[in-house]
Formats: sequence, C-alpha cells, structure tokens
Amino acid sequence: MAATSVVGLQWGDEAKGKIVDLLTAEHDVVVRYQGGNNAGHTVRFAGETYKLSLLPAGILSEDVTCVIATGVVVDPAALLQELQDVQSRRGTIEPRRLRISDRAHVIFPYHIAEEDVLERRHSRDGIGTTRRGIGTCYRDKAGRTHAFRLGDLLRPDSFRRRLREVVAFKNTVLRALDPQFEPFDAEAIFEDYRRYAEQLEPFITDTTAFLHECVRNGRRLLFEGAQGSLLDVDHGTYPYVTSSNSSGCGIHSGSGVSERIIDRMIGVVKAYTTRVGGGPFPTELDDEIGQTIRDRGHEYGTVTGRPRRCGWFDAVAARYGAEVSGVDELAIMLLDVLSTLEEVRICEAYELDGRRTTTFPSHVEDLERVRPVYRTLPGWKEEITAVRDFADLPAAAQRYVHEVEDILGYPVRIVSVGPDREQTIFR
Ligand code: IMP
Repeated sequence: MAATSVVGLQWGDEAKGKIVDLLTAEHDVVVRYQGGNNAGHTVRFAGETYKLSLLPAGILSEDVTCVIATGVVVDPAALLQELQDVQSRRGTIEPRRLRISDRAHVIFPYHIAEEDVLERRHSRDGIGTTRRGIGTCYRDKAGRTHAFRLGDLLRPDSFRRRLREVVAFKNTVLRALDPQFEPFDAEAIFEDYRRYAEQLEPFITDTTAFLHECVRNGRRLLFEGAQGSLLDVDHGTYPYVTSSNSSGCGIHSGSGVSERIIDRMIGVVKAYTTRVGGGPFPTELDDEIGQTIRDRGHEYGTVTGRPRRCGWFDAVAARYGAEVSGVDELAIMLLDVLSTLEEVRICEAYELDGRRTTTFPSHVEDLERVRPVYRTLPGWKEEITAVRDFADLPAAAQRYVHEVEDILGYPVRIVSVGPDREQTIFR
C-alpha cells in the first residue's frame, strides 16, 4: 500500500500544487484535509489554465477521486462556482469523482462580515487574512454552539430552526461592533444555503468511512496540504497563522486516516522564503534583491493578488517546519528564480540576545527580535529552466541545494526549475 503526503514547510505558497499534479497519476485518491478557499493554486492542464481553491488539482484527471475531508471549511457558494467553472470546460463531474465530507464545517456570510470587522479594528497589526471567513468559521467550530456542518444543511427543519437563532446572535454581536452594520436575514440565508445544499448533495458523504474503505482496499492515497507548516494554528507563528493544522499534523485529524499509513512524506520548500499577511519574517528583504525575487518568481497572491513579502531561505524556520511535519524528503521549488543573483544566502541560525540558536522561537516577539546568521554562497548567472539533470546545474546551484540538505538534514529528491511539469529534476 502506498500513501503519499505533500506539505509546505514555510508560510505557504511553496508551489505544492505542481508536486501534487506530478504525483496524481500514481494515485487513486487525492485528499484535501484542512483550510478552505483561502488556499489557491493555478494549474495548467491540457493547455488550459485553471484556478483552484477548494478542489484538489486531481479533479482535472478523469480516473482520480477527490476528497474534501472533515477538517476543511467549505464556502458552498465558492465551491459551486469552482465546480461550475471546471465542469463547463471539462464536462460533468460524477459524484464518484468528488466526495465532500458531511462533517466539514460551513462558512456563512456572517463569518466574512465578522472577520472584516476584526481585521479593520486591528488594522495596525492585523493578521492580514484572506477575508474568506476561514478563522471565524473555525472559531465557531471549536465553540460548537453556533456552527453548522454540511450534513446539517441536509436536514432542513432543524437547520432552519438553529439558523434563526444563530443569525439573531450574530446580528447582535455585529451591530455592537459596527453601528453601520446591516443585519442579515436568516430566511434569505436559509433559502440560499438550501439551494447550495441541494446542488452539493450528490457529493456529500461520510468521507472518513470512504477513506477507511480505500485503505482496506489498498487504494493509493495522496494527501494535499494547503498553506504551510509555519501557518499551523498550534505550531506556527501564532497569532499570525491560519486557523487549521496546516502542517503534517493536520493529516490525521483532518481526514480521519492515520498518518502511519503514509510511506512518503514530501516537504515542499521554495528556494527562498515568502510570506503574505502580517507577522515576523527574519530573512525579509526590503530592497532591490527582494523586488527581483518578487518579479522573477511572480510573487503575488493567487487568492488576493497581494504582493508577497520575499526574503532569503530561512533554514531554521524550514527545518522546524520539516520536523513538525515529520517529512522524509524535500522538494525545492523555484530554484530558477535565484539565477542571475551575484550571491545567495541561507539563514543557518538566529542570534537572539547575543546568543546563537538554531531553535525556532515559540513566541512571535522573540522571532521579531532575532537576527539571521547567514551562510553566503556564490550565485549563478546562467538561466537553469532548461536543465533536467542535477549534474547539469551550474556548480553554484548544485552547492546551494547541497547546503540546504546539509542544514535541514533531509535529502532533496525533487528540484523544480520552472512552472511546467517537464521543468523538474528528480534525484
Ligand atoms: P486566513 O487563512 O485567511 O485566516 O489568513 C491567515 C494568514 O494565513 C494570513 O497571513 C494569510 O495571508 C495566510 N494564508 C492563508 N492562506 C494562505 C495560502 O494559501 N498561502 C499563503 N498564505 C496564506
């Protein structure tokens, strides 16, 4: 039995989608287990470009089943829009090809409104969320009293009754926080969400039971992480994180399948570091080099279009992400973006209060204060986008990869030198 997981080790946007896409053909089932439509990736398939957010990239391959598992939060309107877009170009998606957990929690318009108020009130040091209602939905999930799962939407009587109570409560809170706030109409939301539920019903099922059956039958599973390990709500740079377990830790809780069945855990890193939204970023480059990386790497958010903050590869942070996620190997993405730089740097340690450390600080205020200690290496001038063999990379680029392996302590098995499938070096 073979199961694989692909998880980001930094602050998201590590180009995991490309690795998932490369591996999809070797698997039967692709599983999304956390996050929601805060994630986004652009996939090239059969000459066309698709922007996917909730749907795993496997949805484009006819013989793969995609699962949106229990730990995901679903905005039904966004999901239906995505489904419609894919179906209009690739034909009808049969329910056997997409299974959505009846335990997955549902995002409502008041979640987005609440998040807007919270982010505006804390605008100076806001988290800088994607404003998709992700955090406020997970908050209700943990709080239990005001949450709905997809399965609840299929029981109209109790759904309507509870929705009235919840909307009344949300209106009271939102009005208190924002005098301009226009109250939500529970009946209108009910009608909309009943319509969404009817359209999604053929896909909604007990995905945990389905995945257990897949495991028993030896079907090959591919777990697709969204965001990155440093955005994990428990282990990331709290509070500048997303609200789910976006490290490898989320696989078990989010899917109901033990990570012990996974025999290949791939940790994905960029050859440099990026971050969107607020929070400390020790190796950030606010200069021309940062701008060069942003331009060459097209570092603008897929979901929000925000320019991403760019910096040198932070090996302290990435190693921490790798250890939290429990990876076996690394994939280094976007190595080609660093071509043309005079020299390249890797942060191998931090200096905190005059002391050198390789431990990733648990408190953001300490992370804000660290000074990166760099290993400075020669850059390479040549473009490397056409290279397919590791031995054909310029010596300086090979050395860069070896140094990353050395500091992180994991083998680099995949090096990506461009967005296309072919632009990949396997070792
Ligand atoms: P939220 O997930 O919308 O609540 O946003 C929380 C933090 O996670 C913000 O800093 C976002 O920019 C970041 N974030 C959420 N999703 C992604 C992603 O897919 N890539 C990178 N950052 C993300």
